[in-house]
Amino acid sequence: MANEPAVGIHDLSFATTEFVLPHTVLAEHNGTDIGKYHHGIGQWSMSVAAADEDIVTMGAAAAAPLVRRHGSDGIRTILFATESSIDQAKSAGIYVHSLLGLDSATRVVELKQACYGATAALQFAVGLVRRDPGQRVLVIASDVSKYELDSPGEATQGAAAVALLVGADPALVRVEEPSGVFTADVMDFWRPNYREAALVDGQESIGAYLLAVQGSWKDYTEQGGRTLDEFAAFCYHQPFTKMAYKAHRHLLNYCGHGVDEDRVSRDLGPTTAYNSVIGNSYTASVYLALAALLDQRDDLDDRPVGFLSYGSGSVAEFFAGTVAPGYRDHLRTTAHRDAIDRRKPVDYVRYRALHEHSFPTDGGDHPTLADTTGPFRLAALRGHKRIYETR
Ligand code: COA
Repeated sequence: MANEPAVGIHDLSFATTEFVLPHTVLAEHNGTDIGKYHHGIGQWSMSVAAADEDIVTMGAAAAAPLVRRHGSDGIRTILFATESSIDQAKSAGIYVHSLLGLDSATRVVELKQACYGATAALQFAVGLVRRDPGQRVLVIASDVSKYELDSPGEATQGAAAVALLVGADPALVRVEEPSGVFTADVMDFWRPNYREAALVDGQESIGAYLLAVQGSWKDYTEQGGRTLDEFAAFCYHQPFTKMAYKAHRHLLNYCGHGVDEDRVSRDLGPTTAYNSVIGNSYTASVYLALAALLDQRDDLDDRPVGFLSYGSGSVAEFFAGTVAPGYRDHLRTTAHRDAIDRRKPVDYVRYRALHEHSFPTDGGDHPTLADTTGPFRLAALRGHKRIYETR
């Protein structure tokens, strides 16, 4: 192992939606004290997809800047992680491959295990690059999170895609071994094939998440991982940003540390900046936490960051990534802030109409309203086929 090159995240870019719903608008509609959203769950707004946006348009928009900057040489695999899949058979990654004009000598596959899927993709990508360090793998995590209107989960929706270019000698994060892994068969959150909105037992999901934190940390420790005090920061999956705080306090307690709130804020604070205004982006969430961390902290050269990826159902993984020296020269901070700032606020009526929108299933020609100003759009559903356009 000593002579093997480091492998990890060479570049990271994210995209989100055309529209945004501030939580003040939701609170006004349903009579909730805004303190519950802002401070109780830690959410300020949520990204809302236009009718001509989906996991493909967001995934392509996230990945295009990586291909522009690095070219596509050596990309022989695309791993597309999602739990809001648009097709039961065809990988959403194939549409992205086509929109980006990538080489036919590519394998493309879609991965699913709730919000954990992108971490499986990242680990599989690391394995592929270790086998052939000349190759690079495009990992895309893209999701639109949808819960029932007027349900407790409604305030924790959102949408985004993160694209990671995984390769040898990475400019951002070196993914380390070992990993701590954990699986438990629980029904905290799931979405049967016949439903568009997820079913969730919120309190069960908080408990299942905490159990998975301690389970994956225990395995990480048993595999010979680092000690808690070695980490400069922690990126947690954030279905709502206060969940990261609950998880970190639980981990500190489990490890026999007192819960020092200054330490909790220091370890987590910067990681919630994007998720608190984008909302739950499922598979992308933990890597949005990483983007926010790298974009805001300038003291992470050669320092380890802990990652806790959780996917309901449930699977979790704890692993460490050491930040590469000079990482700040490779960030996309301005583009990331623009992706958030360019969103247009919608009122409650428009949000509700977008939430209720679904395509007829008759196989007819169903063009979409041209709403998005992003680089790619879903132009129509025609003969049961999704028709995408580059703008
Ligand atoms: N001011 C400040 N805080 C307030 C408040 C107010 N006016 N009113 C309530 N709160 C706090 C509560 O005390 C609670 O905090 P705590 O958890 O630290 O005790 C928090 O706000 C949420 O209140 P709660 O009554 O539990 O909210 P809820 O029943 O609406 O459920 C979720 C909240 C997050 C469980 C729900 O939105 C949900 O299920 N979301 C989906 C989660 C998910 O996707 N899980 C699967 C993936 S991990």
